[in-house]
Amino acid sequence: MLRLEKIYKSYGSLKVIHNLSCKVSEGEMLGIIGPNGAGKTTLFKAISGQIPLDRGKIYFMGEEVTDVPAFKRCVAGIGRTFQIPRPFHGMTIFENARVAANFGAGLIGKEADGFAIQAIELSGLVDRLNTPCSALSLLDRKRLELARALATDPKLLLLDEIAGGLVEEEMHQLIDILKEIGRRGISIIWIEHIVHALTSCVDRLLVINFGEKIADGDPNSVMAKRDVHEIYMGLDMKYP
Ligand SMILES: Nc1ncnc2c1ncn2[C@@H]1O[C@H](COP(=O)(O)OP(=O)(O)OP(=O)(O)O)[C@@H](O)[C@H]1O
Ligand SMILES: [Mg+2]
Repeated sequence: MLRLEKIYKSYGSLKVIHNLSCKVSEGEMLGIIGPNGAGKTTLFKAISGQIPLDRGKIYFMGEEVTDVPAFKRCVAGIGRTFQIPRPFHGMTIFENARVAANFGAGLIGKEADGFAIQAIELSGLVDRLNTPCSALSLLDRKRLELARALATDPKLLLLDEIAGGLVEEEMHQLIDILKEIGRRGISIIWIEHIVHALTSCVDRLLVINFGEKIADGDPNSVMAKRDVHEIYMGLDMKYP
């Protein structure tokens, strides 16, 4: 469904993504971890088309999308949430999701309304359709991010630290929602620092450091790797 082929991105002399290749299959949930500044959000910007690559290719659903603009990638089925929630503050939950259904899924009228409501329902906010989004708690703002992304009718959903700042109970609620989204056949790439949240539901785990792939595979085997511990957990295992 998604294939990254040797992609590179620098800002000036800072190499943010370096020779990264990766695949995501249909219906798969891939987790991504890596230290702060590793290039994770930049990777999402590259996949969703917000920034151009320096080198490399991106394929989505069998088509090359390397030079396709962001709005077209969204219509093609790449939806994303932002690390810092970005709702339209003057609007209600319903209105926010409907804008996403209009412009992301290309729907209008009753069809857009119905689709927006479905996305809100799946995100656990259906009892607050007409609540202004400025009045929401952190969990609910994260849910709204999810609802807005779902309302674009994604085939692939990119989640950037959607569980950050949530307490354990809230995180479990969010994980249940993500599992349900996965059951509906939507592929997910989920960036998260909370490793146990990721390993409880992803099929595969990718670790990046300084924009390079360090490990990619079954979550438990990846987390058992010594270099992943050293890099990600900040543990120097040679000097315990
Ligand atoms: N537009 C930009 N211009 C210059 N440098 C940038 C830009 N965007 C990101 N960077 C730098 O690129 C590096 C990677 O940033 P990125 O946001 O992708 O990291 P991240 O892995 O998402 O980190 P975090 O875990 O803190 O969210 C950082 O050093 C960041 O300062
Ligand atoms: Mg980030």
